[in-house]
Amino acid sequence: MLLLGDQVTFYSIIFVLVLLGTRSPVWTVVLTASLYLFMAMIQFPQVPAIRARQVLHPERATAGSAKVSVVAHRGGGHDAPENTIAAIREASKNGATGVELDLEFSADGIPILMHDETVDRTTNGSGPLSHLKLSDLGKLDAAAKHRLREKFAGEKVPTLEEAVEECIKLQLTIYFDVKGHPDEAAAALKDLYKKHPVLYNSSIVCSFEPKVIYRMRQSDPEVVTALTHRPWSLSHFGDGTPRFSSLWKHCWMTVMDIMLDLAHHHVLWRLCGISAFLIQKNFVSLDYVQYWAQRGVDVVAWTVNTKVEKNYYQELLQVNYITDSLVEDCEPHY
Ligand SMILES: *[C@@H]1O[C@H](CO)[C@@H](O)[C@H](O)[C@H]1NC(C)=O
Ligand SMILES: *[C@@H]1O[C@H](CO)[C@@H](O)[C@H](O)[C@H]1NC(C)=O
Repeated sequence: MLLLGDQVTFYSIIFVLVLLGTRSPVWTVVLTASLYLFMAMIQFPQVPAIRARQVLHPERATAGSAKVSVVAHRGGGHDAPENTIAAIREASKNGATGVELDLEFSADGIPILMHDETVDRTTNGSGPLSHLKLSDLGKLDAAAKHRLREKFAGEKVPTLEEAVEECIKLQLTIYFDVKGHPDEAAAALKDLYKKHPVLYNSSIVCSFEPKVIYRMRQSDPEVVTALTHRPWSLSHFGDGTPRFSSLWKHCWMTVMDIMLDLAHHHVLWRLCGISAFLIQKNFVSLDYVQYWAQRGVDVVAWTVNTKVEKNYYQELLQVNYITDSLVEDCEPHY
């Protein structure tokens, strides 16, 4: 983790670099000040801390001794078929504070819940979502590939609307995970928040892609948002193995990883005005939580799947965490 301190340090580094480049103190002052003003003009302020707190640490979140939220990953993919109404009900029954749900779109543009871009891994159908209309999705069994497929047989792929209504009914906080389609997602979510204003106090929009979050805040600045990050994700897979066999490519991607990490910790969070930072659990330490706390940003760890780990995150670090199961230890998920 590359933490260079606050904004003063950041702009001092820019100042020195520009000075070395231009060798002109006047130009250095003008360029650095312009960059500062430009950033100040295009960045979104964070939503009021009280509302962020309502979303991230609701009164009913009581895991451990602090008000830690336990969030079921994809609705709790170990306990029930991921991203289904059954998963949402199961998560609620087992005491989750909230659910993380993946937003995707059917071929006819209806927002639905699905993690992958194809239906093959989770349903008995096959092919990309971009070829399947809502009516086609309605014919699929969303439990087909789950370990408890018998118990949950016939479970459907829900629309975003159906899933959200169920969460509101069960008073679950929603972590919307948006992977792509920044424009469509921002428009769909904006409509959703208009229709269900309670979501302003009970949900958060999260993405690996800063562009998605920036678009969301452009279309509705009142929405609570988060960036999701896994350091070294461009050069390495989640389990730590390198993505590329070519040494040159590996080195290049490692440099890109460093740039991305710096951007997340010093520029992008401020630009988007996020309220939380969702980071792969191995990178969370007390110092790290403190770093973000000083910036009014809450750390959320993912994916925490064993009892020992859950204890550590909720008792010692006291951060919200995302888990695949509310009931038992299960395989790691990256
Ligand atoms: C998937 O399962 C559902 C429900 O059992 C069934 O109606 C449908 O025909 C199946 N679809 C495919 C492509 O096998
Ligand atoms: C959200 O919470 C605020 C207090 O922070 C309250 O004033 C507002 O009425 C709530 N909105 C909804 C829709 O629940």
